[in-house]
Amino acid sequence: MKKNILITGGAGFIGSHVVRRLVLKYPQYQVVNLDKLTYAGNLENLQDIESRENYYFVKGDICDAELVSSIFTKYAIDNVIHLAAESHVDRSIAAPLVFIETNIIGTVTLMEAALSHWNATEDCLFYHVSTDEVFGSIEAPDSFNESTAYDPKSPYSASKASSDHFVRAYRNTYKLSTIISNCSNNYGPCQFPEKLIPLCINNIKRGLPLPVYGKGDNVRDWLHVEDHAKAIDLLFHQGNKGETYNIGGNSEMKNLDLIRMLCKIMDEKLGRSGSEELIEFVKDRPGHDARYAIDISKINSQLGWQPSVDLETGLEKTVDWYLTNEDWMTRVTTGEYQQYYQEQYFKR
Ligand code: NAD
Ligand code: DAU
Repeated sequence: MKKNILITGGAGFIGSHVVRRLVLKYPQYQVVNLDKLTYAGNLENLQDIESRENYYFVKGDICDAELVSSIFTKYAIDNVIHLAAESHVDRSIAAPLVFIETNIIGTVTLMEAALSHWNATEDCLFYHVSTDEVFGSIEAPDSFNESTAYDPKSPYSASKASSDHFVRAYRNTYKLSTIISNCSNNYGPCQFPEKLIPLCINNIKRGLPLPVYGKGDNVRDWLHVEDHAKAIDLLFHQGNKGETYNIGGNSEMKNLDLIRMLCKIMDEKLGRSGSEELIEFVKDRPGHDARYAIDISKINSQLGWQPSVDLETGLEKTVDWYLTNEDWMTRVTTGEYQQYYQEQYFKR
């Protein structure tokens, strides 16, 4: 069946993997990528598919109601996969307002357009991509499931939690057809080097310090981005409308152990030793969540999804990608990044 899908934030890290997957796997679909191209958006991430006949790019803001409405009309949009967001916790601590703007107002703006362009008989879906950070922090051995109460702790997670609540409110009040998924930490090619893994890969390569917040004992659950894109594809096609699904990697690790693993992999690939000596303990992130852990039994039992890439193999593949795409890294770490890095790390 033909679908006209609006993907928001498709030039970002996860969005570019989702766009590529859908454009290549479903040539009968028309895929429109709406992205503002903030510091995190990069059309280089999609160079290999940009001339495909079923792919269209629109540069613009999801908060621009007129533009969003015109896209629904022009492309007869009948499905949305919404990934556009301000996504970095440290930036949300430094400057929260843009998170409220994009993550909350932007989400509502998109749903308003969907409501006014869709009628109830159409086979439409608003798929909202969210995060496990909405649940706050959880002590071992427990994990977040779909009924865990929301308890966001950072401005980023509060904005994402709010957007999730709005999606549920639009479902409840206006019968908008929706699915929400809440996923754990992603890693893989094209991730902007403000996030822990690409930041450390870049710094190890250049012999720069590896900044570990606090004692490095915070735990994250890591998922390869291709596994996340597969889960989104599956839920988009087979998820139950009106429901929420958790997605995770079954790969919990303390930050310090993860960084040590990266050092080992990088040393092997670069034929050198001693990267661990670059580790530097720095002032902790304010309100730093201690542990995230996801229970994936719902998506696993309903749809058979489970992560396919184990963490060590995924990290090796990721390191290979960054080492063969050094120009990508050089381009994204010049300009604004230098100022961001100074403010985040030199004044810490
Ligand atoms: P990212 O920061 O790499 O990319 C975000 C994209 O959104 C960029 O291309 C940016 O240009 C675009 N964008 C930002 N503001 C916009 C606006 N106002 N209008 C249009 N486009 C705009 O983010 P990511 O890591 O790829 O995350 C994508 C989504 O997945 C987000 O909603 C995030 O909350 C969620 N998520 C991320 C992770 C993770 O580990 N990265 C995990 C779970 C969920
Ligand atoms: O859990 C899903 C979330 O994962 C997503 O919703 C967010 O968009 C994504 O950014 C990510 O959030 P985190 O804050 O967990 O990711 P980040 O890569 O920023 O940090 C991972 C861990 O590493 C966290 O405990 C903080 C720590 N850290 C991070 C950086 C950037 C450091 O110790 N040093 C650093 O320099």
